Amino acid sequence: MKTFLLTVAACGLLLTGTAKEPLYRDPTAPLAERVDDLLSRMTLREKLGQLSQPLYRSDDTTLDARITRGEVGSLVVAHGSALVPAERDRLQRIAVERSRLGIPVLFGFDVIHGYRTLFPIPLGIAASWNPELAEASARIAASEASACGIDLTFSPMVDVARDPRWGRISEGSGEDVLLNAVFGAALVRGYQGDDPSKQGRIGACVKHFVGYGAALGGRDYQFTELSERALRETYLPPFKACVDAGAVSVMSAFNDISGTPASANALTLDRILRKEWGFDGFVLSDWNAVTELQEHGIAADGAEAAVKALTAGVDMEMTSDLYLTTLEQSVREKRLPAALVDRAVRAVLRVKFRLGLFDRPFRSHPEPDRMLLTPEARRTARQLAAESMVLLKNDGVLPLSPDLRSITVTGEWAVSRDLYGWWVGMGDGRDAVTVWDGIRSQAGGRTDVRLMSQSRSRRSDVAVVCVGENGYLFGENNNRSDIRLPYGQEQLIRELKEQGNKVVVVVFNGRPLDLSAVVPYADALLIAWHPGTEAGNAVADLLFGKRSPSGKLPVSFPKSVGQLPLFYSDRTSGRPGNDRYVSMDGQPLFPFGYGLGYTTFEYSELRLSKSVAAPGEQVAAEITVTNTGGMKAKETVQLYLHDKAASFTRPARMLIDFRKVELAPGESRTVSFDVTPRQLAVLDAAFRPVVEAGEFEISAGGTPSELHSRILTLKR
Ligand code: NOJ
Repeated sequence: MKTFLLTVAACGLLLTGTAKEPLYRDPTAPLAERVDDLLSRMTLREKLGQLSQPLYRSDDTTLDARITRGEVGSLVVAHGSALVPAERDRLQRIAVERSRLGIPVLFGFDVIHGYRTLFPIPLGIAASWNPELAEASARIAASEASACGIDLTFSPMVDVARDPRWGRISEGSGEDVLLNAVFGAALVRGYQGDDPSKQGRIGACVKHFVGYGAALGGRDYQFTELSERALRETYLPPFKACVDAGAVSVMSAFNDISGTPASANALTLDRILRKEWGFDGFVLSDWNAVTELQEHGIAADGAEAAVKALTAGVDMEMTSDLYLTTLEQSVREKRLPAALVDRAVRAVLRVKFRLGLFDRPFRSHPEPDRMLLTPEARRTARQLAAESMVLLKNDGVLPLSPDLRSITVTGEWAVSRDLYGWWVGMGDGRDAVTVWDGIRSQAGGRTDVRLMSQSRSRRSDVAVVCVGENGYLFGENNNRSDIRLPYGQEQLIRELKEQGNKVVVVVFNGRPLDLSAVVPYADALLIAWHPGTEAGNAVADLLFGKRSPSGKLPVSFPKSVGQLPLFYSDRTSGRPGNDRYVSMDGQPLFPFGYGLGYTTFEYSELRLSKSVAAPGEQVAAEITVTNTGGMKAKETVQLYLHDKAASFTRPARMLIDFRKVELAPGESRTVSFDVTPRQLAVLDAAFRPVVEAGEFEISAGGTPSELHSRILTLKR
């Protein structure tokens, strides 16, 4: 009888189809159907599990059981936690084979400017004004990270940052809206490609949404006082560009935005990100940011914090466990509609399907080491590092002549391997080429190259002084109230000059520095940022003239900390030219967009395809640039806009496009830009972009003080 019943039950299973693979496992089924099918099978607890991203710790004895229960949606792998690929796959096997529904875990890591091969810090990458190269660096970073089992990077950071006291200015593309948008989108494309589920690709989580870079006084985590206009004109557009480029995830920031913390902000997370922009990936809170809503003072306890964050649109919680520990009860007690939990879970599952995690959960390379530091990775790192460096002064000492009798290399960074900045991925300082190694390998055979440790007495034809700030003076919460060179380095430069050396100063920095005390003593001044693995080779390439420097500042360098914040695109006041102090003017030491090379470029006048047009009509701006010097070099042509009279005040000048071109000596190139309605538009009172009639000044050129302008008149 028993056997008979069992047989009947088994037949029943077969007939109703429940024994066959569930729909969500079918890779050919439409994504939305897979999501719905899976969601319909989940308990509330399993749903909340998907919204949790605990910290991976190798000594966590509870993790296996927690994954088995379906309570880990993702893991944040922190620096130093050394999650090896085999262990990642072991944990994934638990999720896929032992948890009830077999939902794979998403492994996230801060791959900020490289994984094992380190590229320049992001501020340096932006200084290259070469988005194609930035994209290539992200593609390499993704391939290395993915070979080691990483699925998601917490990058790019596209926080517009205008106060160099803020340590995290190093992690983004600087002060300009367009640069952050263009480089952010390039990095997203580099990480994800056209299809992030493909081998060697990883998902991108854009951060920190939003306004985090406006931290008051440059003090990290401080509140920001940002009008909706400021958000929409300045802080949001780079995120929009990354969302349009397909970023699968967005990280909600730590800061308070004029009274509503970014991680509980329905305006930015729900109305703008989801509804206006149609973002359907998931929002991840920054580290503990949900718990911190209590400290912000908008939640009396953790349960309220979780309800507020989830309701506003934070789908997944990083590190703290409030969603998992409190939201079941909040749903039961009707303080949180179950539909909002489903909305968040859908977003997370969509991304897991999009990344191909269900169909290819084990993705570490069988021999990951073979994928790291490849010759191509090193080549790209060297080129990007060289293109990121900005020459701010040169009295002719550079490029160094092959006939020099002697070069002294000195300063702390001459032999330092602290060249990776604050985020180092899985970088190993031993892979780095020091400046000393780079210079030694390229100096001509007749030149005596010596390392002068700290004795300051040597006289030589040229002293190359390598100075800077180390990776702990910038980065998260490493804010500085004094942004001059630290540790007596200014004095070293002065002394070398006074001893009669020609002094070439190479600066390794994570932010704009006040270099006013250095400039008078430097015959040449090269900003190298923290350049990554190929640092020394890239510096040597430039010093010896194998390449011409081509970087331009993505951020203004002030004359004094007292001028901060200082950026090129502020709004015109009613009394232009009065932006000064009693003791000093309001101009930077080196402006945004500035950078020298070893050749000269001449520009033609700017030509507009029409000088009068109707609003909405396309206009082209054209300028011809000629390399009039003796060396092949790259030049970035910058295009700026000034709207002379609009319904709302606008920046005195804003970058609307740029193009980097390479020219041989004597070669000319005509660069043509479309001046689009989108670039000309002002946001009206309801924040809709409108193109208004009136006069617009369009300017182009290679250096901010020498732009060529034309007036474009728009008439109805
Ligand atoms: C906190 C930082 O603000 C964020 O940028 C980073 O991605 C997370 N920690 C994870 O490490």
